[in-house]
Amino acid sequence: MTTNIVWHKHEVNKQTRAESLGQTPRVVWLTGLSGSGKSTLANLLEKKLHDEGKHTYLLDGDNIRHGLCGDLGFSDTDRVENIRRISEVAKLFVDSGVIVLTAFISPFKADRSFCRNLLGENEFVEVFVDTPLEVCEQRDPKGLYKKARNGDIKDFTGIDSAYEAPVNPEIHLEYRDESAEDTAERLYHLLAEKGLV
Ligand code: PPS
Repeated sequence: MTTNIVWHKHEVNKQTRAESLGQTPRVVWLTGLSGSGKSTLANLLEKKLHDEGKHTYLLDGDNIRHGLCGDLGFSDTDRVENIRRISEVAKLFVDSGVIVLTAFISPFKADRSFCRNLLGENEFVEVFVDTPLEVCEQRDPKGLYKKARNGDIKDFTGIDSAYEAPVNPEIHLEYRDESAEDTAERLYHLLAEKGLV
């Protein structure tokens, strides 16, 4: 724990880094079911921001679970720990001046609130990628819904593990039949209209 540990204040800080990068760092936090399109949309959004000269970093569920969170599974407790670690990492990236995009199911409201509180209201932008379960299941890009329905995977979000949809996200993005490119463009404009990118 933090007993006998003292915080060091550094000369170069979030503000000075952000100024030299010429941008406002924050986290654009995509949440939604497996197969909702979070990773695809975050990837397209990052490309667009990067092409504009923004300094970005994308934290993605499947990738982070290969390393930092490779020891975690999909029990409720492990998902809480997963999001806690990601939130702390996202905070470090924001401190470095970067615009962070995240693509995690992040199924629990309390964990998303944890991240919001850790970063502060202005630095946490919640994007609900709202793709209905039937659509995600039909897409089933990794065949995981099929496995979950057959009982080969347990604790699968939307099947036998809860997803608590955001009640008041900054952006509510419905994503069904539209192409990923058009949806990412729509997301970009929704963020830009609110001055968030
Ligand atoms: S969480 O709930 O936020 O901790 O999950 P996350 O780190 O985003 O990881 C989700 C990806 O893991 C794969 N996967 C599962 N998802 C949900 N439930 C279970 N049981 C599960 N097992 C493996 C799946 O590929 C998720 O990726 P996405 O991109 O969301 O489909």
